[in-house]
Amino acid sequence: MKRRDFIRKTAGASLVAGVSPFVMASNTNLLISDELRFFSGGKLKRFGDGRDWFFEKRFGMFIHWGLYAIPGWHEQHQWRGRIEREEYIKLADLWNPVRFDPERWLDILEETGMKYICITTKHHDGFCLWDTKYTAFNTMNTPYGKDIIGMLADACHKRDIPLSLYYSIADWNHENYPNKGLAHQLPPQPQDSPDWDKYLEFLKNQVRELCTNYGEIHGFWWDINRTGYHDTSINDMVRQLQPKAVINNRGFDDGDFGTPERDYQADDSLAFDRPTEACQSVGIESWGYRENEDFYTDRHLFRSIDRYMVRDANYLLNVGPMADGTIPAESLEILKRTGKWYSAVKESLEDVNPASSLTSNRNVMLSSRDNTLYVHINKELPGNVVKLKPVNVAPVRATLLNDGRNIEFVVRFSPSDHLEQKAYLNLINLPVNELCNTVPVIKLEFDRPLSEIVQPVSPQDGNSGWVFG
Ligand code: GLC
Repeated sequence: MKRRDFIRKTAGASLVAGVSPFVMASNTNLLISDELRFFSGGKLKRFGDGRDWFFEKRFGMFIHWGLYAIPGWHEQHQWRGRIEREEYIKLADLWNPVRFDPERWLDILEETGMKYICITTKHHDGFCLWDTKYTAFNTMNTPYGKDIIGMLADACHKRDIPLSLYYSIADWNHENYPNKGLAHQLPPQPQDSPDWDKYLEFLKNQVRELCTNYGEIHGFWWDINRTGYHDTSINDMVRQLQPKAVINNRGFDDGDFGTPERDYQADDSLAFDRPTEACQSVGIESWGYRENEDFYTDRHLFRSIDRYMVRDANYLLNVGPMADGTIPAESLEILKRTGKWYSAVKESLEDVNPASSLTSNRNVMLSSRDNTLYVHINKELPGNVVKLKPVNVAPVRATLLNDGRNIEFVVRFSPSDHLEQKAYLNLINLPVNELCNTVPVIKLEFDRPLSEIVQPVSPQDGNSGWVFG
């Protein structure tokens, strides 16, 4: 087509944002990624029972807390520091977190915009934060002498905040746990009597205790099944005792959800094929309290949170309280800044559909709800424009959620699209240099539901992608 004809052909096309675009109606089916489900179909299947709280409360607080907060180095202090067991267990004589106030933790959680909490009831060191009958190595036999899980559970129930319980299968204190010197295991201990069956009995008793004595529990979070042992009866017991509990995939079967950890670039899929809860700590080295910890940048954390939640995943952000029970000041500041960003953009992350497949632009990710498309700039953005190829429809309004300002847009034929000779929606003059320390999210409101401007590609195209009409 000659340029003159092209202009003539598109003369009736809309003028958007005061710019005269060479808009060309798309008359061919534009194939978009065939990877997955799209907007209304974009959401993962829900459980259809009491566990569905998980899809409503997407952002949670992870707490790693135990004796290791006393030396304040790493939650695996005993193993990574090569500390003899007899030495390590002496920390129990010093355990006295007099400033532990679960109400304060929950205030912080709520101020950050988080909706649920997951706490280490027993980490790999074997020290138990609850009143357990099955080992003396627990908080009751310390100067503190109080049931921490009980206190936290009461506070959660009062506020209706779901409580999830982390439980380490690896155990560096129990004589029957087969420590063989593998990763996350102590070397064999001469005084132990490794016996997997006996250890399993102990573990089941503890899990029963945790799922019985603390009212409603909303999640069970296994960690470190080094043995590869498979047994669905243990999660069955959890489900029977706590039907609302979602169970992760690090136990003795696949559980309900996957748990990508500390990664935000590696997984570049556009959506997940099963419920997912990513986890990340504010500190770079440790999940437990570390004195002089190194911390991630705000941008790194916001990107990570955004990149998971936009894909229909939950997110657990971890802090390690200090030995006195308070959350360290630096972590608190990070949570405050995170909460500020999150409250500005949360409408683009909660109750939305993953919609990244509606564009071929892999520098951004998309979520959607009804007539609204949210553009998440959660990767490196090389310039001040986002072209939402193949979207060729202009929204009614474009708003930067971070601060409420309007964003300019245009449907235009750009030189770089000369091969297909098509016009696409561009968000232009983005204030990117002002926003390079955060994750900007732009809300695009259309005059019709997205389902009316996006059509599925017919199956005979050999592609399950979608097209824009
Ligand atoms: C890893 C660490 C463990 C931590 C967990 C949190 O498994 O080894 O210490 O509790 O991550 O996901």
